[in-house]
Amino acid sequence: MVVILLGPPGAGKGTQAARLAKRLGLAHVASGDLFREAVAAQTPLGIKAQGYMERGELVPDEIVVAMILERLAQPDCRQGAVLDGFPRTVAQAEALEEALAAQGKEVDVVLLAHVPDEVVLERLTGRRICRNCQAPYHMTFNPPTREGICDRCGGVLYQRDDDREETVRHRLRVYREQTAPLIAYYRRQGLLREVDGVGEVEEVGERLLRALGGEEAGRAWA
Ligand code: AP5
Repeated sequence: MVVILLGPPGAGKGTQAARLAKRLGLAHVASGDLFREAVAAQTPLGIKAQGYMERGELVPDEIVVAMILERLAQPDCRQGAVLDGFPRTVAQAEALEEALAAQGKEVDVVLLAHVPDEVVLERLTGRRICRNCQAPYHMTFNPPTREGICDRCGGVLYQRDDDREETVRHRLRVYREQTAPLIAYYRRQGLLREVDGVGEVEEVGERLLRALGGEEAGRAWA
C-alpha cells in the first residue's frame, strides 16, 4: 500500500505522515529527512543536495528519484509506505508509478492538506526539529515536554536554515510552480482526497484518517 501526503511546506506532512504510518503499520518515507541526514553526514548525495535545500529550491529529479527508490526497496517498506515530500514534480510522480508498476504495485491514495500561506509562515518560523530523529515540534503549537529536547529520543532540537521567512516564501513559490500541478495530475487519476490542514494536530489527523476511509482507499484497507 502506498499513501502520498501532498501539501505546501509546513502543511504538517511530516507530523501527520509519522502518525499515519504508525497507525497503519507502514514505513514513513520522508525525502526531506533523508536529505537532511545525508547533508549532516556530508555523503556525496548530501553534498549535491545541500545548496538546493538552503536556497529552498527542489533537488533535481534524478537525484531524488534514485534516493527514494533505493529507500522503498528496503525491507521495512515491504508492506508499503506513507510518502512525505515525494513526489514533488510530475516527472517524479511518473518515475514512482513506473517503479511501482514494475513490482505489480500502485499508488493507493493521495492526501492533500490545504493550509494558507500565513499559517505556513507561523508554523515554519516556530518549528524546531530533532537533530537525531528529525521529529518536528513547534514552540507554541506542539512544544516538547522539556525545552529544547526531543520527547521521542532525547535528541537536541534545532531550527532548520530553510525555515527563515524569506526562504519559506520562496519555497511557497516553488510549491505553486512545480508541485501544485500534481493536484490536477492525481485528481485526474481519481486518487486525490483533500482535507483542511488547519486545526489541532489530532483534529487534522482524524480528518486524514476519515479521508482514507473513503471509496478508493477502502479497497486498499480491506
Ligand atoms: P521537506 O523537508 O520535505 O520540506 P517541506 O515539504 O517544505 O515540508 P516541511 O518539512 O517544511 O513541512 P511539513 O509539511 O512536513 O510540516 P511539519 O509536519 O514539519 O524538504 C526540504 C527540502 O528538501 C526541499 O525544499 C528541497 O530542497 C528538498 N526536497 C525534499 N523532497 C524533495 C523532492 N521530492 N524533490 C526535490 N527536492 C526535495 O509541520 C511544520 C510545523 O508546524 C512544525 O513545527 C509542526 O510542529 C507544526 N504543525 C504541524 N501540524 C500542525 C497543526 N495542525 N497545528 C499547528 N502546528 C502544526
